[in-house]
Amino acid sequence: MSSVVSNIKHKHPEVRQVREFVQSLNVELPPIEEFWTLGDATALRVRHDGTFFRSNYERGILLYALVAKHRPNTVLEFGTGRGYGSLCMAWAMSDFGIKGIIHTIDMVSPSKRFKWPIIWPGSDEANVRYLSRHDVWQEVAKSSWMEHIDNIVGFSGAVMQSYSGNPVDFAFIDAGHGYRSVRHDFIMSLYHATGSIGILFDDYSTEDWGLGTQKLVKEDISPYCSPILIQTDRRWSGGEKEHLPDDYSGMVWVKSDSPKQWLAKTNNAFSLLLILYRYRVWETYYRLRLNWGAKLRAVFVNNKMDTEKKS
Ligand SMILES: C[S@@+](CC[C@H](N)C(=O)[O-])C[C@H]1O[C@@H](n2cnc3c(N)ncnc32)[C@H](O)[C@@H]1O
Repeated sequence: MSSVVSNIKHKHPEVRQVREFVQSLNVELPPIEEFWTLGDATALRVRHDGTFFRSNYERGILLYALVAKHRPNTVLEFGTGRGYGSLCMAWAMSDFGIKGIIHTIDMVSPSKRFKWPIIWPGSDEANVRYLSRHDVWQEVAKSSWMEHIDNIVGFSGAVMQSYSGNPVDFAFIDAGHGYRSVRHDFIMSLYHATGSIGILFDDYSTEDWGLGTQKLVKEDISPYCSPILIQTDRRWSGGEKEHLPDDYSGMVWVKSDSPKQWLAKTNNAFSLLLILYRYRVWETYYRLRLNWGAKLRAVFVNNKMDTEKKS
């Protein structure tokens, strides 16, 4: 291969459309409508102008199909969010008799209520309510799915420092999207893998929100493995972006049969330790900033209520 061609290959991964990629995995899917219903409860988003949209519900179909195909024993999910990804992976485990466990990590606790755009199953109306994962999961998740989910509350770095689960063979990286965070979650996934591993990244893009993943793919993945960029967000048949050409954003899927060797190639042991150390220092600072921000907001709200009572 000429160096020009190989350079191009390293810059941009092979691009595939989600529907065609999922079909190539050759697994039987539940009716697609069921993903939309679960997504409406756990992944709906609202724009500033108050309109609602189905934000990358295709990731659920993709995760379901990848789990059904690769039958992982131990999944790490960085970033539970409202749980659409975890639930779709657990759904596949339950449907395909896979005895796996999904360790899903988020700094937000499952009982914390926050603004949650939702269309409840059976309803046509979208609205924003204060809900927690507990509130919603107990309505939409089957108990046979919940057996596969282990919720871990904490920041990625702190949680992974004390991880003592089984070797990881599948990871979904979807927490912090800056390069520092994505690289940490990637290194930790490889570090805890023994045999082969498949890793799916969300949010690869040349726009701000996806630059972290893009940099990681360019520097730490493409030179060693062959990543596939899968166009997902609203690309399923009938989706509003189905025919929009865009070779530069989507989700990235990569597999390796020798994760430890891959890790050793990306950085030497000393620089890996340094990267992890720096990440954890940054994470501590980030956590303190979030805590102080929350405390300041609480003081501000209390003062405002006192003033309103007095007037
Ligand atoms: C995009 S959402 C995850 C969506 C989910 N994977 C899905 O498919 O529905 C990102 C989540 O990552 C969490 N998060 C971001 N940075 C984190 C960190 N450093 N440690 C733990 N959780 C983090 C946020 O709280 C947020 O809930």
